[in-house]
Amino acid sequence: MAFTFFFRDRHTLEHLTKLIVKKLEQYGSIKIWDAGCAMGQEPYTISIMLAEALSDSDFKKIRIIATDIDENNQFGKIIKEGIYPFDQLSRLPEGIIEKYFIKIDENENYKLVDKILNSLEFHKQDLLQYAPIDYNFDAVICKNVLLHFNHEQQMKVFEMYYNVLKPGGYLTMEQTQSIPVEMLPKFDKVLSDANIFQKV
Ligand SMILES: C[S@@+](CC[C@H](N)C(=O)[O-])C[C@H]1O[C@@H](n2cnc3c(N)ncnc32)[C@H](O)[C@@H]1O
Repeated sequence: MAFTFFFRDRHTLEHLTKLIVKKLEQYGSIKIWDAGCAMGQEPYTISIMLAEALSDSDFKKIRIIATDIDENNQFGKIIKEGIYPFDQLSRLPEGIIEKYFIKIDENENYKLVDKILNSLEFHKQDLLQYAPIDYNFDAVICKNVLLHFNHEQQMKVFEMYYNVLKPGGYLTMEQTQSIPVEMLPKFDKVLSDANIFQKV
């Protein structure tokens, strides 16, 4: 079940982009984990939003680690190549295709520019192994993934996200995902209209 698209839940990701830009001023570099990234549309969306918000030199200070269980071993190749058919780009805001994609053939396939491709690394990873991909993240994005896990599994994944985030780091989820009651003391909701939480 890897339904996703570019600029999905644009509102939340735009809020997160603003928060990350502020954090970059504070820390000088930023590390983001997109867990359950599917074919890369979501982590590439946040990369494009950050590229729009930052100078070239500041954008180089952003590192995005994208992971997925990738059951059929398909996502890694797609993400590395960054090639998507035009019908998947229909929801992109005006001007974004021209700026960040290059048409590569007559079959309407488009490839992301190197600047965006190079901001992201992909690793195959099963969240239910509860083994962090890395530590000291400024933000974790985990959208439309946890709903497939039971309460105990969700608790363990939330614990893992808490442990890998820096103090003050952000956890971003889809609007319908809530934090288990037991975890509430560990995360503050930052905005009333987006599901972005800050590690206490
Ligand atoms: C509906 S897609 C969400 C994609 C993107 N985050 C979004 O919101 O558009 C759910 C993704 O979660 C991944 N997934 C499911 N179980 C997982 C697990 N145990 N570990 C890592 N990824 C998993 C699936 O492979 C799929 O790509």
